[in-house]
Amino acid sequence: MNDEMILVTGATGKTGRRVARRLRERGVPVRAASPSSAVRLDWNDRTTWEPALRQVAGVYLVAPGLGGVQEAENLAAFTDRAAAAGVRRAVLVSFPHADTPGPDTDQVAAAEQAPTRAGLETTVLRPRWFFQNFSEDFLRDPVLSGDVRLPAGDGEEAFVDAEDIAAVAVEALTGDGHAGRAYELSGPRTMSFADAVADIARATGRDIGYTPLSPESYAAEQRAHGVPEEWVRLTVDLYAHVRSGALGSVTGDVERVLGRPPRDFADYAREAAAQGVWNT
Ligand SMILES: NC(=O)c1ccc[n+]([C@@H]2O[C@H](COP(=O)([O-])OP(=O)(O)OC[C@H]3O[C@@H](n4cnc5c(N)ncnc54)[C@H](OP(=O)(O)O)[C@@H]3O)[C@@H](O)[C@H]2O)c1
Repeated sequence: MNDEMILVTGATGKTGRRVARRLRERGVPVRAASPSSAVRLDWNDRTTWEPALRQVAGVYLVAPGLGGVQEAENLAAFTDRAAAAGVRRAVLVSFPHADTPGPDTDQVAAAEQAPTRAGLETTVLRPRWFFQNFSEDFLRDPVLSGDVRLPAGDGEEAFVDAEDIAAVAVEALTGDGHAGRAYELSGPRTMSFADAVADIARATGRDIGYTPLSPESYAAEQRAHGVPEEWVRLTVDLYAHVRSGALGSVTGDVERVLGRPPRDFADYAREAAAQGVWNT
């Protein structure tokens, strides 16, 4: 499929941006799409779907809010249209296997099955927490504040690099033997939030700490900062999941697909610090 067009959805996001870059580096034609991109693709606006799907052989699917009924319906309708338009292959980003709180697991399963039901060769990626949450998303501000205050206790997570997720996605989109597979993508070691923050502190040379909060104190602090109630509830559940240790295992799937180990958090932290992402 290497000379045929790949549609990358969520192309401005943490994984989509990297998938598009890696495909282009391989000389694969890419159509990068999202609600704010030049090629506009919005899951909630079906008039944007057909133009994005023209003459495409494969799709990288990022569906924010995966786990909702509407998201699963949109994915089913979109992948049906994709198959009708001649698309043959799909890679979908989902959640760690069926036990992540927050999203409805039945709806996650429905979303995961949608591309296969549409007749596409499908690979599902189930990544753990991304490293880049600390540098490109909701954990960047806490890092910049110097005190990362979360209700994650000393629970361990096998954080994973969005670069490795993108590399696996590119293999699945362009290589053989990945159809029908679901990959649980973790980093090379489990670590607590205290460990992760300590790596960032070392990399930046700044005094940055981690303060474990009770779920109640965390929720009260978030509300005081005007954070929407839905996000407060979702993140309380997500951190409880981390605290429980349910995500504290290394899977080996990145190495199985790429033939090399996943990148370590400390290496990511050094590179991100050198790029100035945590400069105040
Ligand atoms: N972060 C984690 O630790 C983690 C862990 C496991 C799984 N996941 C899942 O991994 C997936 C990939 O996330 P990511 O980090 O690559 O993305 P991201 O950085 O959160 O960016 C979201 C992307 O989705 C696009 N988008 C937003 N609303 C949309 C809509 N209505 N229709 C179509 N596209 C829309 C955005 O485009 P615009 O910029 O144009 O708005 C952006 O490109 C998500 O489903 C996430 O839930 C994340």
